[in-house]
Amino acid sequence: MNKNISVVPALFRKEPLLSRKMAYAFYKLGLTKLKSRHDYGYNHLKNLCLMYFKLTPLCNLHCVMCGQFGDKGIMKGKIASEAAKTIVSLERYKEIVDEIAPKKPVIYLWGGEPFLYPDLMPLAKYMVGKGLFVSVNTNGTLLEQHAEQIVRDKWSTIFVSLDAFQDVNDSIRGNGSYDRVIRGFEAINREKARQKSNLPFLGVVTTVTNKNYLYLDKLAEASREWNLMVHMFNLGTYTNDGIIERQKRFMKEKLDTDIDCLQGYNTGYNQNIDAQRLYDILQTIHHTDYGHPTITVPALNPEKIHQYYHDLETPVRNHCIVPWCQTNINWNGDVHFCADYPDFILGNIKEQSFTEIYNGDRANRFRKTVHESEGGMFPGCLRCYQNMLFGKKIKGF
Ligand SMILES: C[S@@+](CC[C@H](N)C(=O)[O-])C[C@H]1O[C@@H](n2cnc3c(N)ncnc32)[C@H](O)[C@@H]1O
Ligand code: SF4
Repeated sequence: MNKNISVVPALFRKEPLLSRKMAYAFYKLGLTKLKSRHDYGYNHLKNLCLMYFKLTPLCNLHCVMCGQFGDKGIMKGKIASEAAKTIVSLERYKEIVDEIAPKKPVIYLWGGEPFLYPDLMPLAKYMVGKGLFVSVNTNGTLLEQHAEQIVRDKWSTIFVSLDAFQDVNDSIRGNGSYDRVIRGFEAINREKARQKSNLPFLGVVTTVTNKNYLYLDKLAEASREWNLMVHMFNLGTYTNDGIIERQKRFMKEKLDTDIDCLQGYNTGYNQNIDAQRLYDILQTIHHTDYGHPTITVPALNPEKIHQYYHDLETPVRNHCIVPWCQTNINWNGDVHFCADYPDFILGNIKEQSFTEIYNGDRANRFRKTVHESEGGMFPGCLRCYQNMLFGKKIKGF
């Protein structure tokens, strides 16, 4: 499979300034790897390279494998509209942006569906105005009506989730969602041409499940038309009852925390994936020129793909560095390290400054617990997307 880092220089040759911002984030990622993990007096803000803002607890889709709103999603059945009353205000976010902007982290806006945060447009514009690299991860169904302003405001990148071509995509993400995304791409590309702008770069993220893995090449074929910067295949986050139990016990014992976030990924959509067929399809994709790079996360030795899906207990990455260089702010202002798992809350930005939280006792307690855990990760981190991106490759995988 492609070495993921190898595509980075190609991504941004059109926009040197943006390229420098991305390179600076990678530089800090590198620094984090060098830095001693148990220096708890360190100003960790220095290495902050990536900040996720999960802007809203609302979504307009219910994609089957989604840990939040899917078949087993933890937000499913909850009164999301009640939760939405506690979202962080634009004014407070602007203060946080002022606080972190000098450190120049890459910003990743997501959700739920970020277009359902009522002030997405002014917030993203403010972040871009502060010189930040602003990336938005969206289901793309609401792109079309915002295209003119998105291009005018110079968002850096938009990662749109699409899981397959037309009907198969819609069986996962909801009827009509594919066509709405395509209309969104067309609108963005039209506006980029009209406003003579390279920005935003468009990317597609495809989450691999047993429902779509046989059809990935058809989606890749269709993607020729969309003027993409990259197409990313995410092998998916999966877990099982045993891992959930171990993680629950671990979090209670070590961090005195009750968790319910991991069970959203106990979907079974990893089952019955024929690893050889998936590998062949990914190889065909990686060796075909669609006009943009294609990458797979995590990039695995082909012999290990079967293990990735069918032996969830075996780690493929470890020694996660996320708590030393990244963080997520949840829709209600809670800060936690692992973007997909709102488990151990470090503090809340409605009550404290971000710096206090990020360098605070709870953050250091979490870092220490990770550092001292077997393999530098928790039992529940085995297929975590961030660990796949920012963990250490285990020999042979
Ligand atoms: C939770 S969504 C939030 C942003 C937006 N609503 C969207 O769909 O792009 C973020 C990303 O997670 C992906 N995702 C959903 N379920 C997943 C799973 N079980 N494993 C890995 N990624 C998943 C989505 O496809 C999307 O690319
Ligand atoms: S659109 Fe995104 S947040 Fe909404 S259900 Fe699908 S993957 Fe989950």
